[in-house]
Amino acid sequence: MTRLAQPLSLPCGARLPNRLCKSAMTEGLSDPRLYASERHNRLYRQWSEGGAGLLISGNVMIDKRVMERPGNVAIDPASAYRPGHEGYERLRAWAQAGTVAGNHLWMQISHAGRQSPWYVAKQPLAPSEVQLDLMGNYRRPRALSEAEILDFIQRYAAVARVARETGFTGVQIHSAHGYLLSSFLSPVTNQRQDAWGGPLENRARFLLETLRAVRKAVGPDFPLSVKLNSDDFRKGGFEFSDCLQLVQWLNTESVDLLEVSGGTYEQPKLLGYEGRTEDARPARQSTQQREAYFLEYAAAIRKVATMPILMPGGFRHRAAMEAALESGDIDVIGLARPLCTEPDLPKRLLSGASLEAPAFEKSLKLGGGMFAPSSGSFVVKLINLLGQMGWYYAHIEDLADGKPLNLQRGVLAAFLRYLKNEYGTAWRMRRS
Ligand SMILES: Cc1cc2nc3c(=O)[nH]c(=O)nc-3n(C[C@H](O)[C@H](O)[C@H](O)COP(=O)(O)O)c2cc1C
Repeated sequence: MTRLAQPLSLPCGARLPNRLCKSAMTEGLSDPRLYASERHNRLYRQWSEGGAGLLISGNVMIDKRVMERPGNVAIDPASAYRPGHEGYERLRAWAQAGTVAGNHLWMQISHAGRQSPWYVAKQPLAPSEVQLDLMGNYRRPRALSEAEILDFIQRYAAVARVARETGFTGVQIHSAHGYLLSSFLSPVTNQRQDAWGGPLENRARFLLETLRAVRKAVGPDFPLSVKLNSDDFRKGGFEFSDCLQLVQWLNTESVDLLEVSGGTYEQPKLLGYEGRTEDARPARQSTQQREAYFLEYAAAIRKVATMPILMPGGFRHRAAMEAALESGDIDVIGLARPLCTEPDLPKRLLSGASLEAPAFEKSLKLGGGMFAPSSGSFVVKLINLLGQMGWYYAHIEDLADGKPLNLQRGVLAAFLRYLKNEYGTAWRMRRS
């Protein structure tokens, strides 16, 4: 039997049926009231039947004022989410559809922080007023007051309670990729002088307090995961030594599965991309040569972590996935982009019918390469990355709408569709 097919028991007592996970992908499929929709159900039913032991939802927001993108599901205010409330019943339907095959479905709970574009946030909220400088898309954030931080901790917990009640089988707290909790961890974006800034133990306080509140809300037997950066890959930012220290603190926080990723919007290493070279802290050489972006970091994390480790980022060959499990460095393989075009890939990897995952991101170039020379500037790279994201979003939407996939779709067409959808959905949200 392949290692990929081995079940995994989590510290809380739950059991994952196998070692493949669909990592979080923001869906953009909510209705204008920010409720989950029938499109979520159709999409997640396919992913459930696709064979992964664990599905993690895309960002579900705790604050509808500061979203990651238009079309996010937001549970705000969570206190309104009771049986009979429409948003609550929609979550129930989503959870049911996403677990039809007996797999787990965990809700990723998130606040976008400073990475909330102008068309979904009048004013982003962040640890400090450090603006994200990406093509003028992000306003200057306001620094959160302590009262707001305490309120947000309770919001994460309240949303986790709703997740459990509506049938999600676990939750993941998003503390990676530069969103709110992740931005508190970084000295570049967290310049606070109070108990929530300064030394790492202060910068990590928001995350640790959130995990305690969430655990209290969901009880001891419910899977609780954290997604964390190995490194922000940004000069002066959260770095690997911080990560190793934080993981040791997480050992005593009843975390069931630690997902290790890396990078932020400024250094989008999570997708294998580089940001501005002048700000970048280079990745380890051996990691760059490997198929999985963060594997080398996992080996060192394994030495200090007591909880199981999930790793997404670049896995495309069954042999590499098996070798990573075999090494003992990680326990679960995360797959994201390949499941946009092959939702049943996990089943085929498990049976051996597929040995390879699709890797369209390696060849997708905006305008057939016209806009993406290999020596491309940061802006050119960024536009190409957005084009690729648009391409994957378009496939998520096709799956959600039950349409046949169009693998011939060009990146430029996908990019334009992405822009139209993004602004159109934001406009509909504002009107409703
Ligand atoms: C379309 C898309 C949406 C994503 N949305 C999220 C998200 O909501 N939350 C998150 O933690 N990561 C998100 N990610 C990152 C993935 O979870 C994953 O870490 C990354 O894609 C690397 O895995 P892969 O190489 O298998 O695609 C997203 C990635 C893609 C491609």
